[in-house]
Amino acid sequence: MHKIRIQGGKTLKGTIPLSGAKNAALPLMATCLLTDDALHLQNMPFLSDISSMIDLLAQLGVEVHSDTSSKTVTFNAKGLSSTTAPYDLVRKMRASVLVLGPLVARHGEAHVSLPGGCAIGTRPIDLHIKGLQALGAEIELGEGYIHAKASQGLKGADFTFSVVSVTGTENLMMAAALAKGQTRLINAAREPEIVDLAHCLNGMGAKISGMGTDTITIEGVEKLHGYTHRILPDRIEMGTYAIAAAITHGDIFLEYGDVNLIPSFAPLLEQSGVKFTQSETGLRVKSVNGKNHGVDIMTEPFPGFATDLQAQAMTLMCTAEGASMITESIFENRFMHVPELCRMGANITVHGSSALVRGVPHLIGAPVMATDLRASVSLVLAGLVAQGETLVNRVYHLDRGYEGLEEKLRNCGAEIERLQE
Ligand code: EPZ
Repeated sequence: MHKIRIQGGKTLKGTIPLSGAKNAALPLMATCLLTDDALHLQNMPFLSDISSMIDLLAQLGVEVHSDTSSKTVTFNAKGLSSTTAPYDLVRKMRASVLVLGPLVARHGEAHVSLPGGCAIGTRPIDLHIKGLQALGAEIELGEGYIHAKASQGLKGADFTFSVVSVTGTENLMMAAALAKGQTRLINAAREPEIVDLAHCLNGMGAKISGMGTDTITIEGVEKLHGYTHRILPDRIEMGTYAIAAAITHGDIFLEYGDVNLIPSFAPLLEQSGVKFTQSETGLRVKSVNGKNHGVDIMTEPFPGFATDLQAQAMTLMCTAEGASMITESIFENRFMHVPELCRMGANITVHGSSALVRGVPHLIGAPVMATDLRASVSLVLAGLVAQGETLVNRVYHLDRGYEGLEEKLRNCGAEIERLQE
């Protein structure tokens, strides 16, 4: 079990190259199931979630070739040999459910294990199922699996999401691309990863419009062809390292960063005490007069404040001047970083879906435990400013979503290392 050791107190200055977005790469990989041609994805982040999706696709019979030097992965599903996504793979990575829509649309059937809950919530996929039924799929649930059939293919229809769902929108957009007729996804998610996926699908021959708004229209086509697509930069990684600059009162240039990918996050961080400067090649984040002020935060679907940046922002508020009220409106259990931050001396009170953070002069290093991907990185951020040594356990969570984390931070002056224990 690897651990990460951090000696706090260093001001971070330097350049961090952002990786491709994990939450764009995962649905983009699933689009290979929609065609018999080769799909080339560039700027692929090499993370454990990506490896899990590659394992799943390979198990379905997809040919996968990874070129780590060019960060390009090629997929070819012409030799597909299975339409079953087994429990042992799906339980490791919920986004495996993204093979459901493409398999039903292209191959007329799919048997995908129900993902089950996870640390941050029950995370149902009822909307994925209802949406596919609206497109004409017959779906049965049995022995923990979704059994979906559409032997005559899918038929376009309108579907309204009762709750905004990122992967729900992605699953249905991919399925509708090959359905007969028009589909409109209403109350669709608007994340940049959805827009990136729609651009790739259109490059493969799909006819999708309205991506990035709450109504996406898809005119079904007969077939899709191969394509080469470059994955967009990871906005959650960008926000995470922006907070690393803010919390250490530093100055970091985020290569490939684009402030338009964090429309609600950037103004709040500027209110707290940093300055963003956008240039052609990236985004500079510089602390203003070496202090941060508490700001109130509420997580919402894009373009609102991203829930995937909530834990990291809470860490920033722990040593800010004044108080901050943080409300998590997306997931029912996404405050698991709170007890660990309190063990480092933070002053946080949780009432239901809100946490009141009162800034303290400093945090104190301690051994801490991670519980999910974003909670774990919030503890690393805390370790950067805590007095003394912080030991973050269970760093396998980090490896799911942060490529080269220690190296990127060390290159900006952090005293951080991975212990093989
Ligand atoms: C995606 O998860 C992301 N994962 C999550 O990132 C992110 O936190 C989340 O969107 C919200 O932005 C990927 O893109 C792979 P949702 P997803 O469906 O699609 C409810 C990370 O750290 N809901 O948008 O699973 C659900 O319970 C991960 O990178 C239903 O009720 O999230 C939640 O309350 C964590 N029924 C809300 O909608 C459904 O059928 C939003 O969930 C689907 C969702």
